[in-house]
Amino acid sequence: MRVLGIETSCDETGVALYDGERGLLAHAVYSQIPIHAEYGGVVPELASRDHVRKALPLIRQVLDEAGLTREDIDAVAFTAGPGLIGALLVGAALGRSLAWALGVPAVGVHHMEGHLLAPLLEDSAPDFPFVALLVSGGHTQLVDVTGVGRYRILGESLDDAAGEAFDKTAKILGLPYPGGPALSRVAEQGDPTRYRFPRPMTDRPGLDFSFSGLKTFALNTLREAEAEGGGGIDAQTRADIARAFEEAVVDTLVIKCRRALRETGRRRLVLAGGVSANRRLRARMGEALAAEGGEAHYPRPELCTDNGAMIAYAGWQRLAAGASEPLLFKPRARWPMEALAPLTPAIETEM
Ligand code: KG4
Ligand code: ZN
Repeated sequence: MRVLGIETSCDETGVALYDGERGLLAHAVYSQIPIHAEYGGVVPELASRDHVRKALPLIRQVLDEAGLTREDIDAVAFTAGPGLIGALLVGAALGRSLAWALGVPAVGVHHMEGHLLAPLLEDSAPDFPFVALLVSGGHTQLVDVTGVGRYRILGESLDDAAGEAFDKTAKILGLPYPGGPALSRVAEQGDPTRYRFPRPMTDRPGLDFSFSGLKTFALNTLREAEAEGGGGIDAQTRADIARAFEEAVVDTLVIKCRRALRETGRRRLVLAGGVSANRRLRARMGEALAAEGGEAHYPRPELCTDNGAMIAYAGWQRLAAGASEPLLFKPRARWPMEALAPLTPAIETEM
């Protein structure tokens, strides 16, 4: 079965073709970053309008790259939530009506399930069960995964998501939107010993997170440095603050992931969502888990951030299990992942 995947939940238009037998045939992402950059964040109405402009050309492009035509599409998967409601409506309306016109089934996909399953697109796909760390702009969650649709939330952020904390801290430091990659680049030049930020909520039991304090800590550190520097800071100081922030987020995520693996008795960890593209996080998590006989799995960086491939793949999993949407579709800005129907039997034992 060949599934066309359409992702429009936020500021990236993603389209892909996934074949149940041959794997990922083609995928393309159009990023709206230049449109939103001058506002310092995503403007929902501009996002919706640009999805309208880009979705069809991207579908044509992906079909061309795969050497296929519309008639080769066996089903359509679209992101049905969570996300910006207007942006979701564009992809859902397009996906659902395209499927109707082609006379094929359609399925609405949960965006975070897409992220969670993205590592299974890779050759080194992990077996179930595993613990997933979902770290994106809107979510930070630790999930125990025993099968497709079998998700138990172990912990989550009580305030800002990890990506949101990156973005806000980057803004404080005067770095361009989107802040995560920009801050991470600047942090490369930073001295990790100059400032030390707290590791929030690691000194007590539990698997929840809180990142909003780190942004305040960054602001206070910046103010002090500015006062010492007579009103401004130099590039090195900015890099040192960025580095201290990144070290704190990475350390906190590593500590909580090791704890989640210990508490669940799992060995495998899957990292997914935009922040899992962070190089320091990938390296540090890999080393920490390897030292304890564990494994860290993550998709290639372009499949960490929003993309159509993860939606096509998650949709294929659901369609292959017989799921499909009626003509009525209902995008949801909010949608708890634990509400999803389980698809595959629960696998509790590690192989
Ligand atoms: O998954 P995603 O593309 O969209 C959402 O579903 O939110 O994640 C976007 C988030 C943004 O907050 C962005 O700053 C962050 O992921 N991000 C990063 C990196 N690349 C993207 N954060 C830290 N380091 C990166 N390299
Ligand atoms: Zn996402």
